[in-house]
Amino acid sequence: MKIVVIGGSGLIGSKLVTKLRGLGHEAVAASPDSGVNTLTGEGLADVLTGASVVVDVSNSPSFEDAAVLKFFATSTRNLLAAEAEAGVGHHVALSVVGTERLSESGYFRAKIAQENLIKESSIPFSIVHATQFFEFVKSIAASATDGNTVRLAPVLIQPMAADDVASALSRIAVGAPVNGTVEVAGPQQFRLDELVRRGLSARNDPREVIADPQARYFGADLGERTLVPGDNARLGETRFEDWLSNPAT
Ligand SMILES: NC(=O)c1ccc[n+]([C@@H]2O[C@H](COP(=O)([O-])OP(=O)(O)OC[C@H]3O[C@@H](n4cnc5c(N)ncnc54)[C@H](OP(=O)(O)O)[C@@H]3O)[C@@H](O)[C@H]2O)c1
Repeated sequence: MKIVVIGGSGLIGSKLVTKLRGLGHEAVAASPDSGVNTLTGEGLADVLTGASVVVDVSNSPSFEDAAVLKFFATSTRNLLAAEAEAGVGHHVALSVVGTERLSESGYFRAKIAQENLIKESSIPFSIVHATQFFEFVKSIAASATDGNTVRLAPVLIQPMAADDVASALSRIAVGAPVNGTVEVAGPQQFRLDELVRRGLSARNDPREVIADPQARYFGADLGERTLVPGDNARLGETRFEDWLSNPAT
C-alpha cells in the first residue's frame, strides 16, 4: 500500500515511516522539507496520487494560541480536501489522551478543532489518542520552570516511548478504519511531579520539582485522571527506567 506520512520527518513520523517500510509498504515521508506543506496546500495533490492511507503526525511550529489553531484547522481542511480528490480510503491522525478535557489550553483547543474536522469529513478515519511521550518530559519541565523551580500538579500520568507510539500507529494505519478514537499509553502510571523529577535527575538537572496542586499544564487545570486513558487503552511495552538508560529506543 502507498501510505503518506504527513510530518514524516518528525519524531513520530520518521519512526513510523521506517516501521511501515519494514512491513513492506510504500511509505512516503511528507513535510515542508520534501515540498509538501499542508498549511499552504503545496505539493499535496502530487504526493497523494495513488495513496490508500494518510497518517497525519504533523505538529505546529508555534504553540501560540492563534498560530496553533490556524495550523491544525487550515492544514486539516487542506489535507482532507486533497484526500477526497485523490480517493484516499483511511485518514489516521495522532492526538492526545484527554484532549477533550483540556480545552482551557489553546494547544488542545486546536487539537479538538482538528479532530472535529476529521469526524465531520467523508473520509473513513482512525484518531489515535496517545499519552505524553517520554521524549516530551523535558518540554513539560521547561513549560513549568520558574528560575530553578519546576511546579507541577501531582496528578496521574501514563507516558509512553515515541517508538511504541509509532508501532501502534503502524498497526492502526494498515488496519481497517475504526471511525472513532483508539487510546494508546505506556505500561506504568506515575505522579506528574515524580515523573519529571526522575527525568531531570537522570540527566543531572539541578532544578527542584515541587508538587503544586494549583499548577497549570500548558494553561489547563488538571484533575487526578485528566491525562490518563480509559480501561481499553492499548499499552506499549517500554518502561520509563529502561528508556532513560537507552533513550534512542
Ligand atoms: N508530545 C507529546 O507527548 C504528544 C503526545 C500525544 C500526541 N502528540 C501529537 O503527536 C504529533 C506529532 O508530534 P511530534 O513530536 O512527532 O512532532 P515533531 O517532531 O515536532 O514533528 C512535526 C512534523 O510536522 C511537520 N510539519 C510542520 N509544519 C508542517 C506543514 N506546514 N506541512 C506539513 N508538515 C509540517 C514537520 O516538518 P519539518 O521537519 O519539515 O518542519 C515535522 O515533520 C502532534 O500532532 C502532537 O499533537 C504529542
